[in-house]
Amino acid sequence: MSKVKDPSLAPQGELKIEWARVHMPVLRKIQARFEKELPFRGITIGMCMHLEMKTAALGQALKAGGATVAITGSNPLSTQDDVASALAASGAHVYAWKGVNPEEHHENLLRVLGHNPRLVIDDGGELSVSIHTERQQLIPDMIGACEETTTGVHRYRALEKDGLLKYPVIAVNDAYTKYLFDSQHGTGQSALDGVMRATNMLIAGKTVVVGGFGWVGRGIALRAKGFGAKVVVTEVDPVRALEAVMEGYSVMPMKEAAKVGDIFITATGCSQIITSEHFGEMKDGAVLANSGHFDVEVDVKGLRQLAASTRIARQNVEEFKMMDGRRLYLLAEGRLVNLAAADGHPAEVMDMTFADQALCAEYLVKNKGKLQPKVYNVPADIDKTTARLWLETHDIKIDNLSQTQSQYLNSWQ
Ligand SMILES: NC(=O)c1ccc[n+]([C@@H]2O[C@H](COP(=O)([O-])OP(=O)(O)OC[C@H]3O[C@@H](n4cnc5c(N)ncnc54)[C@H](O)[C@@H]3O)[C@@H](O)[C@H]2O)c1
Repeated sequence: MSKVKDPSLAPQGELKIEWARVHMPVLRKIQARFEKELPFRGITIGMCMHLEMKTAALGQALKAGGATVAITGSNPLSTQDDVASALAASGAHVYAWKGVNPEEHHENLLRVLGHNPRLVIDDGGELSVSIHTERQQLIPDMIGACEETTTGVHRYRALEKDGLLKYPVIAVNDAYTKYLFDSQHGTGQSALDGVMRATNMLIAGKTVVVGGFGWVGRGIALRAKGFGAKVVVTEVDPVRALEAVMEGYSVMPMKEAAKVGDIFITATGCSQIITSEHFGEMKDGAVLANSGHFDVEVDVKGLRQLAASTRIARQNVEEFKMMDGRRLYLLAEGRLVNLAAADGHPAEVMDMTFADQALCAEYLVKNKGKLQPKVYNVPADIDKTTARLWLETHDIKIDNLSQTQSQYLNSWQ
């Protein structure tokens, strides 16, 4: 059972999934093992993730491991309808289409939960928040959940802090083989890709303001610098601000940055980063984009209230004409620009992230009943396995410690 926009798009979507799989050798290797060992036999896995080609490849790997997969999208604009159709045609239960409204999104979450998942793979914590608040009858049989992104990990940790978390969760986002590569290099490349596809603007010579210098922000700053931009960083954490200074970026409050920026990209995971107090300071033609999880970083409602008129200037670009004649351009409704206006992260980095997801899901099943209702870090073995497999599948060899070296490192003398 599925609900997608147009099932006839499946062949086109299957081609995209195949393309992703070609560039995901680690996941292919894990899938081949899953096909033999069937770690998820008899288990339904509920997924709420950006439904594009790499996610579909993960869904198919889990299915190959014996799981029944039920999935919905984690963002209204990131679902690719052809990929959703192809995944449905391959036997998953898919409830997703591009442009869902909030009510439809909520219905789709409940449709996924209607399949009684015992494992959840979340991107933003949405399925688990629904289980904890609206579908508590699922809790006794839950094996656990894996969380994909920083914002979701914050939500799970908040549930745990309040003593309300009811099953074990693995913070997949916090694996080295996730945030060092996916958050940093994946988002760095794809957020710039989204801005460039949406605007077709030259980055060289522009001032790019990056909100937040976390793993995502530093990736965006690095790629913007690589394209020849002057990069300005805004931060609230003094250590991260200091890192940005030492990397050679200008650091200043958003109120100051608002006056000099040509392109703004937020990536804080916080809310109200660019608001009415900043729109009035901005240059004519400034471009506003967000790469943080939720569409709360640019105050779109405030922008709409200030505008004299709006129009769609290009696909994924809305023009806001201000009372004084200046035009501000909002990309992808202030939602994740890399997924809404481009194809999300390159498959090579998602190969690591989704290898972590697949291995963490397997770990939860293997340790069923032994884990507490807590947020766990990714076991170091899994992180190392993913890194080792990635190097192996790219034919990159490294040195091994000799016995003498091992002894040296483990000695206090
Ligand atoms: N677009 C994507 O595909 C993608 C990929 C990974 C993560 N994310 C999302 O991106 C966001 C950031 O993730 P991260 O892993 O970099 O998190 P992080 O915690 O490493 O970094 C966030 C940074 O923002 C700073 N910050 C917080 N509030 C701020 C404010 N008001 N003004 C300025 N700076 C502020 C923090 O001090 C921190 O340094 C999260 O919402 C995450 O879920 C998106």
